[in-house]
Amino acid sequence: QQEKPAALPEDRFLTIAHRGASAYLPEHTLPAYALAVEMGADYIELDLRMTKDGRLAVIHDNDLERIGGTRGQVSDKTMDELRNLSPGPAFNEENPELAQTSYEQLSIPELRDVLIRFGTAVNYYIELKAPPEGGGMEEAVIGELERYGITEKSGQHDLPPVILQSFSEKSLVRLHKMRPEIPLIQLYSFKENADLSTEDLKYLQSYASGIGIPAASAHAGFIEKVEGWELDVHVFTVNEEQDILRLIRMGADGVFTDRPDVAGRISSSE
Ligand code: G3P
Ligand code: CA
Repeated sequence: QQEKPAALPEDRFLTIAHRGASAYLPEHTLPAYALAVEMGADYIELDLRMTKDGRLAVIHDNDLERIGGTRGQVSDKTMDELRNLSPGPAFNEENPELAQTSYEQLSIPELRDVLIRFGTAVNYYIELKAPPEGGGMEEAVIGELERYGITEKSGQHDLPPVILQSFSEKSLVRLHKMRPEIPLIQLYSFKENADLSTEDLKYLQSYASGIGIPAASAHAGFIEKVEGWELDVHVFTVNEEQDILRLIRMGADGVFTDRPDVAGRISSSE
């Protein structure tokens, strides 16, 4: 008999700091996460990819061009090689009004760097990107969370300390078997008008606590339908005040945002 997925808190709109407070500082860096915490985010969001030497790098793209300004793939590099790359120059170039030369000293972190830096002082919303079919990544993530004492009920703001997310259903089912007490979010990449069949929703309910969908696909009828199955709906990636407000009124349970200060302000005034 498989355990039911963990329930997420009711009537709580979550501000999930997408790659940290990434509108203001280079994404997936320790300062971007620190700023998100300072801004009162409920969760900091991390994308994880496995390196060639089986370590967990905190980075969104497998291709290193955008963030590291170099050719190559995360999956072909060791963690030590990635540490020598900085997301600073790319951020400075894209955001001249926010640019600081000191950002060039920032590096791509490993999951454990973030866990050591923030410990139980923050809640983590972690995505497994491209988990290998045969497993290994799920065990590595759970192992790190345990090693740094993040799996017990140590969450901030009366929330679960960790939520795990993935586009990979297989990976989430594996995680649910390993640690049923950790809430899991199944991600979808609907282009427009999100929809799921009754069969999909029934199966989701067996391993997930909710779903994550793109903002352009969100609509009230869908959110109501999904919530009827006791599944939460988190929406990515939403940065404008009017869009955040629209989603709150539509019944969404949280947003991934590069601007956690804005989302926090809007949700607390609603
Ligand atoms: O994880 C939810 C959202 O972050 C998915 O979009 O591409 O930024 O990982 P992406
Ligand atoms: Ca993500």
